[in-house]
Amino acid sequence: MYISASDVPDAQATNKIKIYDPSDFEGMRVAGRAAAEVLDLLIPHVKPGVTTGFLDDMAREYILDHGWIPACIGYRGYQHTLCTSINHVVCHGIPSNKVLKNGDIVNIDVTVIVDGWYGDTSRMYGVGEVPRKSMRLMDITWEALQLGLKAAAQPGAHMGDIGHAIQTYVEAQHCSVVRDFCGHGLGRVFHDAPNVLHYGKPGEGPQIKPGMFFTIEPMVNLGKWQTTILPDGWTAVTKDRSLSAQFEHSIGVTETGIEIFTLSPQGIYTPHNPELKPYLGG
Ligand code: MF3
Ligand code: CO
Ligand code: CO
Repeated sequence: MYISASDVPDAQATNKIKIYDPSDFEGMRVAGRAAAEVLDLLIPHVKPGVTTGFLDDMAREYILDHGWIPACIGYRGYQHTLCTSINHVVCHGIPSNKVLKNGDIVNIDVTVIVDGWYGDTSRMYGVGEVPRKSMRLMDITWEALQLGLKAAAQPGAHMGDIGHAIQTYVEAQHCSVVRDFCGHGLGRVFHDAPNVLHYGKPGEGPQIKPGMFFTIEPMVNLGKWQTTILPDGWTAVTKDRSLSAQFEHSIGVTETGIEIFTLSPQGIYTPHNPELKPYLGG
């Protein structure tokens, strides 16, 4: 996600939204699947006693073994394959020798480059037995992403319709939507136009058109939406230290709806709660 709308980090990024050709969907399908495979791989390893650095090593080796590229290594000086954001960490948590403990919740975010195409996705994982309020937050965040995807799939919709669908639902659950980070266009670039806000009003922003590729990646807090960055320059945490959760998919807009590029090949879309029913696009 971007730090701010004006701060375009990628050299090849433009502020014009690209419209890709139907033949470009295959590249995104392959990259998206690769990224989702990494998240599937990690499911049995997210448990008490494991370090986030170990998960990062596993992910990097899996990616390199397949001849793919871990997009985050070297990205603006970042040195890891994953972002591992635990409990009150909103995003960009840095893998380390920190040990996961029973009851933690963790977002794992991975971006993989395959043949020049970027696949970017994240999911929530519960560590051991997770408190009910943490489960509820993860369920709400998942549902928020599903509503965002459905809004994006309505032909003729605007970017603001996505944000409005997410914000309305999340706030009705007495949670808050993070404002400081957003989804983004991607393709042969990691972060491109448009900024995909997870709050907003119907009809606002650019119209969603066939051939657009972008992420939807809402971050939802149990407390207030404000965030702050730790002195490491990366780790974003909730200002009030309340719990935060996030899910992310990379999607492409079709004539009739959307294609989700980062669906779980193993069908485990919600590692924290396999009961939840996913929206599969269309
Ligand atoms: N994957 C993140 C996103 O969703 C970006 C992480 S950039 C990193 O856009 F450098 F922190 F890894
Ligand atoms: Co992203
Ligand atoms: Co991501």
